[in-house]
Amino acid sequence: MPDLNWFPGHMTKAKRKIAEQIKLVDAVAEIVDARIPVSSRNPDIPELIGDKPHIVLLNKCDMADKEKTAQWISYYKDNKIIALAVDAKSGKGVSEFKSAAMSALESRLKMYEEKGMTGRTLRIMVLGIPNVGKSSFINRLSGKSKAKVENRPGVTRGNQWFTVDKHLELLDTPGVLWPKFDSQTVGEHLAITGAVTDRILDTELLAMRLIEILKADYMQLISDRYRICELPEDSYEALCVLGKRRGMVIRGGEVDTLRAANMLLEEFRNSKIGRITLEGVDFSA
Ligand code: G4P
Repeated sequence: MPDLNWFPGHMTKAKRKIAEQIKLVDAVAEIVDARIPVSSRNPDIPELIGDKPHIVLLNKCDMADKEKTAQWISYYKDNKIIALAVDAKSGKGVSEFKSAAMSALESRLKMYEEKGMTGRTLRIMVLGIPNVGKSSFINRLSGKSKAKVENRPGVTRGNQWFTVDKHLELLDTPGVLWPKFDSQTVGEHLAITGAVTDRILDTELLAMRLIEILKADYMQLISDRYRICELPEDSYEALCVLGKRRGMVIRGGEVDTLRAANMLLEEFRNSKIGRITLEGVDFSA
């Protein structure tokens, strides 16, 4: 998983590659994690995209809060960007991509038509940080297993084109577009979802951050899963309560908070607690 020691040389290289290759495409499909649409978005993307038509795919929507995903879609719509909720793992929403892309490309298509360039193959670059689901999405759309799904995010891949049909080709992100830790919260949210290794941050602290969000927005899910109606105000104490509930007690009756933190993060990442979004439209890093 990506660590922090890549920065900034690798980022510069990836950005340069993307800037070069973006000239070859008609549009950009940016994939973000629907649970953390802000933190999973590399903030350099708007600058890289420039005025190319742009579609945002809120992937892993099966794990995200439905209502919040819908709010994100309207947020993007208000900003004149077409956004789609996608679950690239099961394929849900993927079939809508082509028509969304055509809508985003409407004026370009018109221009091509006026120039007599009908039937031209459209090329779309798929952009996104590692582990956001690019390979899964490309596999789903091209219906082949050419884009190998790597379970180690950040594995360098060469330039890869994928044919969807005779009218559409996809280009996988050239190089590795690392996430950017503009704030502590961004780093924490990336680590909580497992987009970056949690070795760089304190596990108990991550679990406490998650508890804060769960307490604010998802108390019902907590009570359903852990059979606890209320959690203490203090997040560390709340972590102890959850650990105790799961019998994670060490000698002297003390709670093994590291085990409890790992349990909570694991259950969140595996969607055991429920569909949770850490960043709503009002989130700012
Ligand atoms: P990348 O190319 O952007 O690096 O991402 P990739 O497609 O390799 O996906 C990273 C992980 O996220 C994979 O899990 C993949 O199955 C999972 N994933 C991708 N899209 C979705 C989605 O919409 N919903 C859910 N729930 N998961 C998604 P993995 O654990 O690395 O592999 P595996 O579980 O497929 O074995």
